[in-house]
Amino acid sequence: MRNTETAPLGSGGAEAEARTLDAADPGHRHLFLVPPAEGGRYPEVAYLAGNSLGLQPRATREELLADLDAWRRLGVEGHLEAERPWLPYHELLAAPAARLVGARPAETVVMNSLTVNLHLLMVSFYRPAGERTRIVIEDSAFPSDSYAVRSQARFHGLDPDTAVVRLRPRPGEDTLRTGDVLDFLAAEGHTVALLLLGGVNYLTGELMDIPAITAAGRAAGAVVGWDLAHAAGNVPLALHDWDVDFAAWCSYKYLNSGPGALGGVFVHERHLGDPALPRFEGWWSTEAATRFEMTPVSRPPATVEAWQISNPPIFAMGPVRTSLELFDAVGMPALRERSLRLTGYLERLLDEVTADRPLTVVTPRDPARRGCQLSVRIGAGSANELTKRLRHEHGVIADAREPDIVRFAPVPLYSTYHDCWRVADALAATVEVDR
Ligand SMILES: Cc1ncc(COP(=O)(O)O)c(C=O)c1O
Repeated sequence: MRNTETAPLGSGGAEAEARTLDAADPGHRHLFLVPPAEGGRYPEVAYLAGNSLGLQPRATREELLADLDAWRRLGVEGHLEAERPWLPYHELLAAPAARLVGARPAETVVMNSLTVNLHLLMVSFYRPAGERTRIVIEDSAFPSDSYAVRSQARFHGLDPDTAVVRLRPRPGEDTLRTGDVLDFLAAEGHTVALLLLGGVNYLTGELMDIPAITAAGRAAGAVVGWDLAHAAGNVPLALHDWDVDFAAWCSYKYLNSGPGALGGVFVHERHLGDPALPRFEGWWSTEAATRFEMTPVSRPPATVEAWQISNPPIFAMGPVRTSLELFDAVGMPALRERSLRLTGYLERLLDEVTADRPLTVVTPRDPARRGCQLSVRIGAGSANELTKRLRHEHGVIADAREPDIVRFAPVPLYSTYHDCWRVADALAATVEVDR
């Protein structure tokens, strides 16, 4: 059903309306570089793939050039004498990363990449014992997480087919119900060593009830960790107050820090400095003040820095710092507000297009149960083919998850209402109406 407040999609009025909304609610697109379009009527792409790889902030190039210049001018002395000295560089990221995920600075660190961090965290937090051996993930977990937990089970000498439990939505439903997760924990929580779910599901865009599930998991005696790849920079988070045990995320999606960018890690304060927790160590795990004493035994600090291993790649840290500055300047509450408006607008347009086409929005309809991404299931043809046509014929960049899901993410920092209108207009032109 078309919302009566919006002009019909095919009318010139709908596009004009999108332009009007953009004028009133412009976001921060001017801070980003938008790729040129290869097809369609507009010079720039309508970029809806920020859930996969965020756009480049204008400030990133300058940041990288400044870091290269410091290396050119200072060589090894840059460790102490660069404008932002390299030795303690990672410390610059702890506070803004903490603000992003609702943590304390001692609880967050930027390092490595996401799956590597999940493994390092599981070294500490997946400790099967007695009947409590299972790892619980969602059936539609990102494959890397699935491979990671299965390999962790094998590492502990367990059979991954029995040690890993995959939670499935009810038959005929696309997303997990919080109540079903809680019921599972009530019934079988005593067998669960680790609950590791995606905060926002990569495929469906469902935002899980992180505080409720964390509380239930912990009450059942399990450790609760979250993969926040699709949640960080997308939805407000309060990891400390929610009592999450640990979390990890990447910075190349909503955090716009470039392909393969460094990830972030959260470990709750109650675990910091616990000598009973196993960790893998290197010279960046020890107290900064003792790092160059060259002693054979480490003295880890009572912060999440104890999970670091190697000295960090400075050229990869600069883009994360630039991005976190943007998030600090705009603030997650304001971004979430704009995200609700923008995604709600795209949803209204998609309702109009999908009403008489073989397309279904599978993301929860309650805005409180999703971030900015809307996933559409296509009833005919392949998702890859459709996204190719959207790109080449209309300059719309979305991303496909074969066989039948196309994801659209209006990113509140830089996406526009006009981008959303272009998505709906392109889908209407590309997918035939049902007969
Ligand atoms: C939910 C989720 N988990 C894990 C990964 C893997 O990330 P990485 O390659 O940084 O380990 C991704 C990548 O897109 C992801 O979306």
